[in-house]
Amino acid sequence: MTSTEWCVFPFSVGVSAARFFLVFNAKTAELISHHQVEINQSFPKEGWVEEDPREIMQSVYECLERTCEKLCQLNVDVANIKAVGVTNQRETTLVWDKETGEPLYNAIVWLDLRTQSTVESLINKAPGQNKNHLKHKTGLPISTYFSAVKLRWLLDNVDEVRQAVRSGRAMFGTVDSWIIWCLTGGKDGGVHCTDVSNASRTMLFNIHSLDWDPELCRYFDVPMEILPEVRSSSEIYGWMVTFIHQCLGDQSAALVGQMCFQEGQAKNTYGTGCFLLRNTGTKPLVSDHGLLTTVAYKLGKDEPACYALEGSVAIAGAVVRWLKDNLGIVQSSSDIEKLAAAAGTSSGCYFVPAFSGLYAPYWEPSARGIICGLTQFTNRNHLAFAALEAVCFQTREVLDAMNQDSGVPLTQLQVDGGMTSNRLLMQLQADILCIPVVLPTMSETTALGVAMAAGAAEGVGVWSLSPGHLPHVTSEKYKPQINSEESEFRFARWKKAVQRSMNWET
Ligand code: G3P
Repeated sequence: MTSTEWCVFPFSVGVSAARFFLVFNAKTAELISHHQVEINQSFPKEGWVEEDPREIMQSVYECLERTCEKLCQLNVDVANIKAVGVTNQRETTLVWDKETGEPLYNAIVWLDLRTQSTVESLINKAPGQNKNHLKHKTGLPISTYFSAVKLRWLLDNVDEVRQAVRSGRAMFGTVDSWIIWCLTGGKDGGVHCTDVSNASRTMLFNIHSLDWDPELCRYFDVPMEILPEVRSSSEIYGWMVTFIHQCLGDQSAALVGQMCFQEGQAKNTYGTGCFLLRNTGTKPLVSDHGLLTTVAYKLGKDEPACYALEGSVAIAGAVVRWLKDNLGIVQSSSDIEKLAAAAGTSSGCYFVPAFSGLYAPYWEPSARGIICGLTQFTNRNHLAFAALEAVCFQTREVLDAMNQDSGVPLTQLQVDGGMTSNRLLMQLQADILCIPVVLPTMSETTALGVAMAAGAAEGVGVWSLSPGHLPHVTSEKYKPQINSEESEFRFARWKKAVQRSMNWET
């Protein structure tokens, strides 16, 4: 490596995989090595989704070792590693014992629905049965999605958690906190912290004061002493051998990786779910159309927090996984493109994958998945097409809400995430939005974002986030190829199907 090159390692821990990346060269953001390990999910009961925190850490360690080995093969000295950043699935909730270092229950994954009855009873008790009655502080509606209700469930149902809280041994965290604590020493003095972007997804955090909120903690009856310290998204949290850490929730990292630093810029990431975030600058904008207000990032202790409006869609890539694992319609996730292309249409079939209820803009936990418009003619290819269309229609719903809230319609959509390698999906998305879709050729946007945040931290200084110093990433554009009448017709049908998914019992 020459003196102009440097390394930042971002850990990326999503719902289905842990990845560890090496990024070098602040101009090209070229990726030099990468290793990925799958993480298993378990579904112990209907609607429950869990992951084993030990397996999460094992996958992190394995990624770390393999990437270092690859680095040695490339004759790169590990001493060139300047910083380690963490990016993670948000909301997923863990509690562990700080004395033994052991998790006290599996991680409850963000998609998990076990708290539906708690959420319904909280909403029923809220003034005017208003699910948004904590929104002025949290930016969020009361929903199964966020950490507070998951933590409440752990406190109510797991003896080990209750006992550990009573004896002062319990630590709560989202996946970032767990990883940072383990990597910085664990029970031998690990750092218990999180960043503002992750904290803002718990429903215990005041997005204006940027601190844990005693009133919210009382509301959910959560002991404040088990919460991590909240830090900015780009600063030195602790040391791992000679490495340094920074952290960002995965959607915030993607926003940074897409260089959406200006107010009004937006990105949509297609992972397990699908998350459209629009930078609203240093002022939180409250949505009137079912979107979340969230802290996007705070890039340094003394920097201001930057906020985003977010349209969260629970099921995107997960619908393909469902077709593969539950119906066996595809052998591997990449097969879906071939199948859908063979049909070229859904033939009037609409698929609303409301497996975890519906998130934005409806926030309806009791909605359930439906497939409608079937005829004798419908085959698995049409179903594959309808599943991809569902991802695009859901994005259209949150994009419309975002345009209404901000009053300034987006003229193109920057996209990233695993599903964007599906070219048919990208074309469908442009057709259904009636605006161009712009895809960076460097596909690991989330990793790039956390690498940039890590590299820009005070005391690391290997990356500058000022205009003119940002890496140049090339992109390709998908332009709409159908007329807007056709697009509106299909979208109107989709909306009817959504109504049925919300009223399927009546
Ligand atoms: O809010 C959940 C999100 O952070 C996880 O995203 O799609 O990578 O699992 P995904």
